[in-house]
Amino acid sequence: MSLKSTIDLNNLPEHVAIVMDGNGRWAKKQGKLRVFGHQNGVKSVRNVTEAAAEIGVKYLTLYAFSTENWNRPKLEITALMELLVSTIKKETATLMKNNIRLAAIGDLNSLPAKCQNELLTAIEETKNNTRMTLVLALSYSSKWDITNAVKQISQKVKEGILDVNQINDNTITEHLSTSAIPNPELMIRTSGEYRISNFLLWELAYSELYFTETFWPDFSKEEFYAAIVDFQKRERRFGKTSEQLKAK
Ligand code: FPP
Repeated sequence: MSLKSTIDLNNLPEHVAIVMDGNGRWAKKQGKLRVFGHQNGVKSVRNVTEAAAEIGVKYLTLYAFSTENWNRPKLEITALMELLVSTIKKETATLMKNNIRLAAIGDLNSLPAKCQNELLTAIEETKNNTRMTLVLALSYSSKWDITNAVKQISQKVKEGILDVNQINDNTITEHLSTSAIPNPELMIRTSGEYRISNFLLWELAYSELYFTETFWPDFSKEEFYAAIVDFQKRERRFGKTSEQLKAK
């Protein structure tokens, strides 16, 4: 029986964020090049996007390329960028058919021109879709994003548009590249690594974290449902006591 039928559709996370890890090790395990792992990772991207949209998740953010990933061998970076371009090109029609909007966060200007063009074209084409938003984190790191926010806020203070004493939690949120996206209630990381790795540091403040040993290319719809079911068993207290929550 699929775990899908055990999911409580009234208690879904509105936003799920995923660190897709383990492509390289998955490939190496079978004596293949790392790129082979990334290619097979695309299959999981497709499966999980479909699974999330089907159950009614509204935002799915995938960490596809980090600021730190620029330090990888040049050949791997090129292959990843090409994979990104070809995948976006190939999948835009599917996104349209399924009413899914594509969005991106990160330092998009640092991506190769071809990649930027393909991405912006797909974002434009899908901008009116309403079922779910698929957010790709590309050349993204949370420290990069927070640094940018600090710069913008400082500039406003300098120009007298903003008073230092008015700066609060919301001011920071509004200046992040995720400002239009609700915080993820659930963050999933694959491949048995128990880290956040500079991903959505501000936004994950109260998120539930789910870790699995499965390498990303093996991450299936069923595993995604398992993460949702696990999330639904948790008690989200936001600093309050269990009794306070029950008294509500
Ligand atoms: C981490 O595995 C994965 C990445 C750095 C890239 C993820 C990219 C894809 C799944 C394909 C393109 C995505 C889209 C959205 C079209 P790793 O290489 O760090 O694995 P390792 O830890 O085993 O070395």
